[in-house]
Amino acid sequence: MSLKNKVAIVTGGNSGIGQAIVLELARQGARTVIDYVANPDATVALEQEICKLGNQCIGVDADVSQVADLQKLVDAAVSKFGRLDIMVNNAGIETRTSVLDTTEDQYDSVMRINLKSAFFGTQLAAQQMIKQGGGGRIINITSVHEDWPMPGNTAYCLSKGGMRMLTRTAGVELGPHDILVVGVGPGAVETPINDSTMDDPSKLKKLDSAIPLGRMARPEEIANVAAFLAGDAATYLTATTIFADGGLMQSSVGL
Ligand code: BGC
Repeated sequence: MSLKNKVAIVTGGNSGIGQAIVLELARQGARTVIDYVANPDATVALEQEICKLGNQCIGVDADVSQVADLQKLVDAAVSKFGRLDIMVNNAGIETRTSVLDTTEDQYDSVMRINLKSAFFGTQLAAQQMIKQGGGGRIINITSVHEDWPMPGNTAYCLSKGGMRMLTRTAGVELGPHDILVVGVGPGAVETPINDSTMDDPSKLKKLDSAIPLGRMARPEEIANVAAFLAGDAATYLTATTIFADGGLMQSSVGL
């Protein structure tokens, strides 16, 4: 129970990678706060699963693209559990549209949910961590596409590139407060964001063959990295990204 008595917020915590992170942090002893704006049923089911683990998770009706709602998450962590130690900026969407035909609405949604929420999530979490003292951890779930172009998914790549610089710059600014800011850069993961690939056998085969480990990641494999970064063994990592991509970025086999 290496995260016993720690309190975490995980945005986008009721599905995909976020849900796996909530479960792993809870298994390791942390109490968690998650947002939901969609899918309250999944949130209640997760709260109950965590109760069975003998731990606590609370769902807050919050839209992470709104700063006031991010503040609601921080306030819930503090009022319910007394503090905030770990902020996981995980919420993310993609449109899989090219630069030629991405609409203004698509662009705004991707940037608000992926980048604005991570920026203000970092800001509000860090303010609380500084107020309470003792440092903290901010973990940004980015992507190999923080660095690696994905043609046909331009706004997404732009938002993840922004998260890359958020991680580096905020990591430098917050270092003196012992607040460590680290990115986790997954490759392809078996989550709903990849349904269109997983539902198409030829696309899936092409993707698997581009990954040196020959398969997509399970969400738990990304959650393990996030839990490591939240824990006592990760005291000297900040302002950088750990890629958990099965070697995808280094592979010469194109997608
Ligand atoms: C994207 C997926 C893509 C994967 C590997 C992820 O960040 O969300 O759409 O399959 O990267 O390219």
